[in-house]
Amino acid sequence: MLQIRAKLIYNKNITGNFFHLTLRAPRISGKCLPGQFISVKVNGPNEPLLRRPFGIHKVKGSDMEVLYEVVGRGTEILSQRKAGEYLDLIGPLGNGFDLGAFSGSRASSSPVIVAGGMGVAPLLFLAQRLRGLRASSPKLRTEVLIGAKTASSILCEKEFKNLGCDVKIATDDGSRGFKGYVSGLLERGLNTGRRPPIVIYACGPRLMLKEISRISEKYNAPAQASLEEHMACGIGACLGCVVNTKKGFERVCKEGPVFRANEIIWG
Ligand code: FES
Repeated sequence: MLQIRAKLIYNKNITGNFFHLTLRAPRISGKCLPGQFISVKVNGPNEPLLRRPFGIHKVKGSDMEVLYEVVGRGTEILSQRKAGEYLDLIGPLGNGFDLGAFSGSRASSSPVIVAGGMGVAPLLFLAQRLRGLRASSPKLRTEVLIGAKTASSILCEKEFKNLGCDVKIATDDGSRGFKGYVSGLLERGLNTGRRPPIVIYACGPRLMLKEISRISEKYNAPAQASLEEHMACGIGACLGCVVNTKKGFERVCKEGPVFRANEIIWG
């Protein structure tokens, strides 16, 4: 974990309240794993400390990309920062996804990525890294299920396709793809026909992750879930992000944000 000043390269609105931000951080970018996050001080040097955690969306050489939604004061301030400014950031933080099932040419499982809403943010980096593993696992194909409220709020479909993923869409109102929740789309796929063993990687709202956990147990498909809990310090000090697990209370920012779905006591 490092604390650095990173140059803001790009910060633009892409659709609705969603922004795409690029930071030049050569000392951190090469160390990041999919599922890890960074903590960014969003305000200027003379203002009170205001940090926000952001999942790492993509890494390209020295640059790290973040996808964020303006939902409050912190992200509102961030949306006004301009290219050429410097931001204080800490990272990489937390524990990322375990990709051990896909290392080596004998890997026999397929990854299925399940993203609900803003849950796409850290999962694009995962798809990027999985594509890199194809050299050692040539048969590896990544299926991506994206859930959104409506057709107009689907995020990153093109980016996943550009990485060679097989993308399927679910919308709550049925305006694109499967009508219903993305967890329903996952279960429909598992219900139909024979398929190779899969490993599920999920990020999204808590209720969606709880449902993914149930499906994972029912179909005996291991699932890893990245939790989107509210975080304060982001470095394991304040206990403001604890979740109940089979091992006791654990900090999302430190032991997570990625957990085995069946280890969480969803309540
Ligand atoms: Fe402070 Fe996790 S946010 S311990």
